[in-house]
This record gives sequence, C-alpha cells and structure tokens, in this order.
Amino acid sequence: MSVVALVPAAGRGVRLGLGRPKALVPVNGQSLLLRAVRGLLAAGCVQHVVVAAPPDQVDVVAAELAEVPDAHVVPGGAERTDSVRLALDSVERVAPDARVVLVHDAARAFTPASVVQDVVRAVEQGAPAVVPVLPVSDTVKKVDEAGNVVATVDRAELRAVQTPQGFTLDVLREAYAAADGVATDDAGLVERIGGTVHTVAGHPHALKITTAFDLAIAESVLAVDIP
Ligand code: CTP
Ligand code: MG
Repeated sequence: MSVVALVPAAGRGVRLGLGRPKALVPVNGQSLLLRAVRGLLAAGCVQHVVVAAPPDQVDVVAAELAEVPDAHVVPGGAERTDSVRLALDSVERVAPDARVVLVHDAARAFTPASVVQDVVRAVEQGAPAVVPVLPVSDTVKKVDEAGNVVATVDRAELRAVQTPQGFTLDVLREAYAAADGVATDDAGLVERIGGTVHTVAGHPHALKITTAFDLAIAESVLAVDIP
C-alpha cells in the first residue's frame, strides 16, 4: 500500500502577475513546483506524485520534473477542482496500490516535512480526511453588501486551512463523484457528503504563494532557511 500525492499546478498565476504559471516561477533558482514535489517525496511517506499541469504546458512541466522519477504529469483543467479530478482519475494507472491520497498545492512549496508526515499519519491511523490548520490571528467580521459590519465572528472557533490535505482514496473518490461545481478545498467536498474532517497543526511556512508580497517573503526568508 502506498501514498500518492496529487499536486494541482495548472493555475495561471494571475495574481502573481509574472505572465507565467505560478508553479514554474523560480525562487532562488528552483521552481515552486520542483520545491513542492521534492518536499513531498523528501518527507519519506509519499511514494508517488501526480502533477496537474496547464494543459498547454504539459511538456514544459514534465521537463521541469525530469529528474524526479516518481513524478507523473497530467493535463489539468479550467478550475482547481477540475485539475484535482483529472489527477485523481490517473491514480489507478500511476499508483494502483495507493490507499492514501494527499492533495497539495504547488503554490505551498515550502511546507515542512513534519506537516506532510502528520497528515499521512492521521489518515493511516483512521481519519478519512485530514487538513492542516492554523489559528486565525486577525479579528474576523461579517460584512453586508453595503460594506457595513453585520457581526464579529468568534475567532477562537476559526482556523485557516492549508495543504497537504489527506484522505483515504475511497473517500476522496466518493467526494469527487458526488461533487457538483467548484470547491475552494478538497476537504470541503468530503464535508458535503457528510464525512468527518480531522485537523492537525499546520505551519506558517506552508503559506500559499499568491501575490508578489508572498513571493518576496519566500525569497527573503524561506528559500534562505530551506535552500
Ligand atoms: N490550480 C490548478 N488548476 C487550476 C487553477 C489552480 O491546478 N485551474 C492550482 C494552482 O496551480 C495552485 C493551486 O491550484 O497550485 C492553488 O491555486 P491558486 O493559488 O489560485 O493559483 P493560481 O490559480 O495559479 O493563481 P491565480 O488565481 O492568481 O491565477
Ligand atoms: Mg487561482
């Protein structure tokens, strides 16, 4: 039995604004995608990786990962959910012995190995779905269409959710089979079918590189600590 990680990397990186897919953006000479894939495999508990690439750049992404023999590349889709679904569809072919599946954003390229290990361990110990989370440090308010505050939400009950998210393969397949429309994360699809989603501690270094500010943080702090 093995663990397979699906890496959605088919986004266009519009908010980063560098005119290329975010996954291919280098940080200190190494692309976010290569860092993310190497990080998953280096955790020691993931045997296969399936990367969903921009459909018109499958060859470029495959070349980027040429030195990683356990990584496979498939064309992604229009939305993240489509990309994950396409990667999930390839698991039977790429990793027929997989029973645990992770879904991990290429954009969270600096996720520490300990987070990957904690998520896999929690699934192997019986949780059908697991997400890494952080406490929310900002005060959070609900606002109406006019921009007026409706309520202050009790932030003690809130968590910001990261990846990798971990699942038994059966549960993720069931969730995607039932999915209609787009979800902002994969565990949300498990919630919709009534599944329990367990949490483990996330890590600040697992931030999603979304904007130029995030990239500057990665260049100045993370890639220095994590070469
Ligand atoms: N993603 C994907 N397929 C899509 C859209 C997004 O595989 N059709 C991936 C991205 O490559 C990224 C992750 O999902 O690794 C999270 O998405 P996001 O941070 O929104 O990345 P982008 O869509 O590339 O960025 P933007 O929304 O700014 O264009
Ligand atoms: Mg996006």
